[in-house]
Amino acid sequence: MALVYIEQVEYMSLEQMQQTHEDEIKILNEIDKLAILWDRGEVTQSELEDKIDEYIAHVHEHFASEEKLMLEYDFPSYDMHKTAHDMFLADLDYAVVQWKDFGDIKKIINFVRKTPEWIVMHVNGVDAPTADYLARKIDKIAAENA
Ligand SMILES: [Fe+2]
Ligand SMILES: [Fe+2]
Repeated sequence: MALVYIEQVEYMSLEQMQQTHEDEIKILNEIDKLAILWDRGEVTQSELEDKIDEYIAHVHEHFASEEKLMLEYDFPSYDMHKTAHDMFLADLDYAVVQWKDFGDIKKIINFVRKTPEWIVMHVNGVDAPTADYLARKIDKIAAENA
């Protein structure tokens, strides 16, 4: 069983956002799987840690690319959406400090295992209306320039 399934999140009106969500869900499931194998001594800790580092970089790129699109197309609820991202990143940073500075890898594994709840809520409640707005605006601009 996977940690989270792509079917749990709404399909985005903007392909770029959809792809990012699919990639992130894939990485989360890979971490969950590696953590199980690491627990059994079947993979090394560094294999697991590399995947967690990949996730952290992906989350930052994910949020930054949405924020860039929102600014580019004057999304009216930019501040609300950006704040939601920043709050998540603060929690992530805290888990990363527990892991990297205090050597507690379980803290970041637990964080990763709890994120699906946030992701499903954020994607369906915040990203979906944002993607709808962006897709409409992009179409409108394309029509005006046609
Ligand atoms: Fe997103
Ligand atoms: Fe978002």
